[in-house]
Amino acid sequence: MNLDRLIDALPKAELHLHIEGTLEPAMMLELAKRNNIDLPYASVAEVQAAYEFNNLQDFLDIYYQGMSVLIEVRDFYDLTWAYLEKVHGDGVRHVEIFFDPQAHMERGVSFETALEGITTALETAYKEMNISSKLIMCFLRHLPEEAAFEALECACKHKEHIFGVGLDSSEAGRPPELFSRVFAEARAQGFVPVAHAGEEGPAAYVETALDDLQVQRVDHGNRAFADPALIARMVRDQTPLTMCPLSNLRLRGIERLDQHPVKKALKVGLLATVNSDDPSYFGGYVNDNYKQVAKAVGLDAGEVVQLAKNSFAASFISNADKQKGVDAIDECVSHLKN
Ligand code: ADE
Ligand code: ZN
Repeated sequence: MNLDRLIDALPKAELHLHIEGTLEPAMMLELAKRNNIDLPYASVAEVQAAYEFNNLQDFLDIYYQGMSVLIEVRDFYDLTWAYLEKVHGDGVRHVEIFFDPQAHMERGVSFETALEGITTALETAYKEMNISSKLIMCFLRHLPEEAAFEALECACKHKEHIFGVGLDSSEAGRPPELFSRVFAEARAQGFVPVAHAGEEGPAAYVETALDDLQVQRVDHGNRAFADPALIARMVRDQTPLTMCPLSNLRLRGIERLDQHPVKKALKVGLLATVNSDDPSYFGGYVNDNYKQVAKAVGLDAGEVVQLAKNSFAASFISNADKQKGVDAIDECVSHLKN
């Protein structure tokens, strides 16, 4: 079976996606003009030329600058809608997306402005494209705990729209346990916890994300492979991992894509998934991630199908909806075979 054709056709969920990381250069320039924001770029080519990263922090500096063009509700709507339209063509049926409210609040854009634009697009996508969604608010780990508590207070006023809390931004030197208290409060308020861990930070950060933050899913988790006992624990508990191959390549977590641990993750029985992280910055949306990593590490059709099934299994939808996703995959595969 042709793998690219299979990947294009497979129904799937995307579980690790920063909505601000879908801001394409053309939209960045358009919104800068619309909102009178000064950017150090005059063309799409100049924006793209800036996307050379040596590590996570290099990327984050450009990412926070890029999102400075998002001011009005309609900017957040346009951004989210463009992403949803794009992945609708990739077979995506369900998305669990991150947003970074503190990065907007810091520059005078309210929590509600960002939330309204994003959720209106998500609701429209459900009605018009049958894409379901859950929204996860991330705490920025480069900011102090108090700032995270402020964001949580805002989120508590909008529980109907916010499903979970996450932890992102600069990882090195900022272990998950710095945010134990705010995660405890978030869990008490009913938010489902996830966290970026083991992207650049050590395996110990994955362990404390599980133990201290009690996360139900680990975002990235690549460095966990340095600790066999931790991997055995995650296999036993079927802790989902949201892997992002092109992100790891572009941020130099790996030198070449054939070093990506996704095949190893499947082989040992981890509940691994493939996602795009910040597709506009890393050169590919979810299907590009599947295709490029499949080719680089030599995934067969069965492993690709397993990843798509895992995307539903690792999501926060109901068991009945997970089964519908898996059934849709089986139907798609049998259709392609005939
Ligand atoms: N924010 C957006 N993308 C991120 C990533 N890959 N890691 C940490 N924080 C992020
Ligand atoms: Zn991420």
